[in-house]
Amino acid sequence: MLDRFNRKINYLRISVTDRCNLRCLYCVTGDKLKLLPKENILSYEEISEVVDVAAGFGIDKIRLTGGEPLVRLDIVKLVEMISKSGKIKDISMTTNGMLLESFARPLSEAGLHRVNISLDTLDPEKFRRMTRGGDINKVFAGIEAAKKHGLNPIKINCVVKKSSDEPNASQVKEYCLKNGLQPRFIRQMNLRTGVFSTVDGGTGGNCAKCNRLRLTSDGKIKPCLFSDVEFDIKEFGITRAFELAIEAKPERGSRNHKNVFSNIGG
Ligand code: 5AD
Repeated sequence: MLDRFNRKINYLRISVTDRCNLRCLYCVTGDKLKLLPKENILSYEEISEVVDVAAGFGIDKIRLTGGEPLVRLDIVKLVEMISKSGKIKDISMTTNGMLLESFARPLSEAGLHRVNISLDTLDPEKFRRMTRGGDINKVFAGIEAAKKHGLNPIKINCVVKKSSDEPNASQVKEYCLKNGLQPRFIRQMNLRTGVFSTVDGGTGGNCAKCNRLRLTSDGKIKPCLFSDVEFDIKEFGITRAFELAIEAKPERGSRNHKNVFSNIGG
């Protein structure tokens, strides 16, 4: 489906939960995380219904994000439901990798094609500090498992202050080259002030080429990460919410006061 600016919209990013098992410094910036009431979170049946309608609008690429998608109960079931619909040609997931070692195989068997894994440094102590308590060895084990079970290509998300020349990022780059992984360097963004830029090695952040819509875990369709505009599927119905979101997709991003990275998944 084309939007007002002739951009072909074929990509839906679905936040399946606002919960996460890490608290990365750049992602969780406020004092206290306000979590959504559980009863507001879409069921897998509801998400699948959205995917079916989305496919009718030309969506053929889905990414599951969070929060951390692997902390949601039975996430493999959702992957299977989406995969079985047969309407989506690229199903991926963004994960912090903490739980990936045991999930890689069932995810792959359920029809997940590939994963993006967040990794901002190779130093275990720095990793612990940046994630407020994470164990980097779990991420390495997750990456190995993803390779073993064919979740390719494996992309590594590395958040940088300014550039991929920073020491942490250079080490991540080298590690990726050695291990057959594709690094993507994402400059630290700020939803409130509207600071964002293109992703080095990825497609995000380029408004002229943006092909995305987002679904929040409580059922709002957002045409742009850097905008407050959203359409609640419970208010408008799924089809109308989609139409409205495509119509309202702005030429470029501005600011978002309604979400935080930890609930919209970047
Ligand atoms: N700036 C840039 N990227 C962010 N992410 C989360 N918070 C930010 C931020 N402030 C992205 C990272 C991470 C993914 C889950 O979300 O790329 O890998």
